[in-house]
Amino acid sequence: MKIIAGNWKMNGTRAALDEMITALGNVDTKNRMILCVPFTMLRPVNGAVKIGAQDISSHDHGAYTGEISGGMLTDAGASYVIVGHSERRAYHNESNADVCAKATAALQAGLVPIICVGETMDEKNADRTMEIIEHGVRESVPQSGGDVIVAYEPRWAIGAGLTPSDDEIASAHTLIANTLADMGRGGTPVLYGASVKGNNAAQIMAIDHVDGVLVGGASLKPDDFIPIITSVK
Ligand code: PGA
Repeated sequence: MKIIAGNWKMNGTRAALDEMITALGNVDTKNRMILCVPFTMLRPVNGAVKIGAQDISSHDHGAYTGEISGGMLTDAGASYVIVGHSERRAYHNESNADVCAKATAALQAGLVPIICVGETMDEKNADRTMEIIEHGVRESVPQSGGDVIVAYEPRWAIGAGLTPSDDEIASAHTLIANTLADMGRGGTPVLYGASVKGNNAAQIMAIDHVDGVLVGGASLKPDDFIPIITSVK
């Protein structure tokens, strides 16, 4: 069983989501399917597809104009939330500490946070990939609380049609799995994300410690997303 999560980013409509949920409802799979959609599209969904958000406030209520709390996300039908996506880190200056506070808020609200870590191109070129990943995990994943999911997303590869080599993915995922075990979170699922498509998903998910994928662009249309889901048992 793998976890296949889609990240719609700032795309889609409620009608497109209905269409996707109907299409995924007909897919014969044991894999866990999650769609992380814009706040305005959150809704309760019965069946195999789980719904997630893409961000959360670290506060639980109060005078924080424009923010959305974990309680509001569960109330709207979400059971997952992405935290620390590279676009939030890049455009909203979210640090590992901010991400950890958001993941903690998610756990307190009963949501499963999908916590993203990954290196930029500059960090990769400076041979800092392993250091950035290990710090990202140690500082972004809460020490205690319920289950989490971690996503390794090499920031230079997102939306770029680029993917690391299988060996690079294996090294990153092994480091993340070992770091999580050292933190008392052994067995936490670790997803790979960045330029996953129908034609590379099976190969990526065959790599050690890759428990699923987090898919951006190729999660928007059933014809692109379903082949990823059915590429693995
Ligand atoms: P991509 O995005 O699949 O379009 O590269 C992945 C992500 O940002 O989660």
